[in-house]
Amino acid sequence: MNPRTYEELISTTKMYELVTERLDEPVVTQKRTFEGIELNHELVELILDLYASDSDADFFHQKLRKFSLEEIVTYIHASHRYYLTKKVPELEQSLLHIFSKFGQTHQLLASLALFFNQYKNKLVRHFKLEENLVLPYIRQLIQAEKGLLSKEELRELFKSNSIDAFSENHDEVEEELKEVSVIIHSFVEKDEAPPLPYRIFLNQVELFEMELRKHAIIEDHVLVPLAEELEKKLKETL
Ligand SMILES: [Fe+2]
Ligand SMILES: [Fe+2]
Repeated sequence: MNPRTYEELISTTKMYELVTERLDEPVVTQKRTFEGIELNHELVELILDLYASDSDADFFHQKLRKFSLEEIVTYIHASHRYYLTKKVPELEQSLLHIFSKFGQTHQLLASLALFFNQYKNKLVRHFKLEENLVLPYIRQLIQAEKGLLSKEELRELFKSNSIDAFSENHDEVEEELKEVSVIIHSFVEKDEAPPLPYRIFLNQVELFEMELRKHAIIEDHVLVPLAEELEKKLKETL
């Protein structure tokens, strides 16, 4: 990325902040607190490129797959935490602000608030399911690859888990956020100057929607294939 203009520089910087912000939060585990997450610099660069471009997703999938599964899992985990503790509360805050300013006077508001609230619950369930089932399973696969699991433990692990089960049920919850945009846009088209809080909310929603699209690309095209490969390799050792 070579920023040529002032605008490009600003948008590149914003994108950089967006991607790295999630890595800056201290990670608290049962034993100790780490100062943020250290990620391979090349991986961060590539994720930035993925954010900045819509072209040729295959190119990114292939390049991203050269990183270790452990690094990808770390990035996905940091992203879930960032959405749950920062992005979703920010959107809720904007919606509350709209409520306090416009009360019941805008009819769009009721449908928007209702939709967003249902959507948010669904999204939180989606992240938690990945955090509680899928990522721990993949972490176990990584442990097994390092020789830290006995054959018996590995057999037990495969009895109740599979990457296939995850990828088949990995619904399109990330895509549904588009509906919030559609609802607001249908309002914006009727009203030439929608109130500022709506425009702010729309911007936040669109950014989050883009974010979740990229997130799903990394999950479906990098995390899943890498985990499948490792799963297959480990099954062959049994
Ligand atoms: Fe996810
Ligand atoms: Fe997902």
